[in-house]
Amino acid sequence: MGSEPVPLDSVATVAALRKRVSAWREAGETVALVPTMGALHDAHLTLIAEAQARCDRTVVSIFVNPKQFGPGEDFTRYPRPIETDVAALRAANVDLLYAPTVEEMYPPGDNTTVSVRGPLTAGLCAAARPGHFDGVATVCTRLFLQCLPDIAMFGEKDYQQLLMIRRMVADLAIPVEIVAVETVREEGGLALSSRNAYLSAEDRKKAARINLILADVAAAVADGGDIATEIGRGLAALAKAGIDDVDYLEIRDAETLEPVTTLVRPARVFVAVRLNGTRLIDNRPVETFATRTVPLRSVTRKAS
Ligand code: PAF
Repeated sequence: MGSEPVPLDSVATVAALRKRVSAWREAGETVALVPTMGALHDAHLTLIAEAQARCDRTVVSIFVNPKQFGPGEDFTRYPRPIETDVAALRAANVDLLYAPTVEEMYPPGDNTTVSVRGPLTAGLCAAARPGHFDGVATVCTRLFLQCLPDIAMFGEKDYQQLLMIRRMVADLAIPVEIVAVETVREEGGLALSSRNAYLSAEDRKKAARINLILADVAAAVADGGDIATEIGRGLAALAKAGIDDVDYLEIRDAETLEPVTTLVRPARVFVAVRLNGTRLIDNRPVETFATRTVPLRSVTRKAS
C-alpha cells in the first residue's frame, strides 16, 4: 500500500516563482532560498536542512550561470544530472525547485552587471578568475529579487563568495539574511564540491591532503609561527603531496580578506590548486584563543 512519491513542485519562470512565494507569504510563511548550480551533494543537502530548520518553505534554485565561468573554464562540461538532482530534492522534501533558462535569467537585451569592488574581490579567486565574482554577484542579485526570500544559504567553502554576497546585500539594502553554513567534508577531510566528480582516483587521494595541510598551516600560525615561513612550509607540503599547481596559499583577514602578515585579528588560511586541470578551493579558520571568541558568522541584515 505504498503511496506514490509526491512530485517535486518546479517552476522555470520568475512569474511562476513569485506566484508560489506570494501565496506562502499570504499564509504568513517564511521562505528560504538555497542557490545552487545543481550536481547536488551532501553539502547542498546540509544547506537545505539548515534552511528547513529556519523557515517554513524552502526554494532551491538550479542554474548553471554562464556569467560566472571564464573563457576556457568548465561551463559546457559542468555536470548537469538533473534527474538525480530532482530525486534528491524530492527526498529532502524541498517545497519548490526554481530552474530558470538562461533567457529567463538574462532576458534579450539584458545589460546589467552587479560588481562588488574592494578587497573582498581583489585577490584570491578573483585573480585567477577575472569576471567570476561579477557573474556571481549578478546572478545572486537576480535570484534574491526574483524570489524575495527571508534568508539565503551559502557554504563557507566558498568563503570569498560568502563575504562578497554579504557586502552586496548590505550595500544594495536587499532584505535577505545571508546564512553561512560550515564546510561539509568527506571522511578524509576533502571539502565536498561538484567538481570533485572530475577527479581520478589518484587525484582524489592527493586532494584529500589539502585539508590536512591547511590545518597544519593554520595550527602553526595560531601557535605563533611566522606567516611567510608557514606558507612556505605549506607550499612544500603541497608539492610533496604531488600538488604543484597552486593558484594561492594565503592567510587573509577573516572579515576584510586583506592579506595579513601578523595575527592581530581573526584570520583564515585559503588555498586554490589545480589537479589535472580541476580547480579545487578550501579554507579554514586560524583559531587562536583570542580569535575563537570573535563570532565569524555576523549577519549583515535581518530578514524583514
Ligand atoms: O556557489 C555556487 O554554487 C554558485 O556560485 C551560486 C551561488 C549558486 C551562484 O551561481
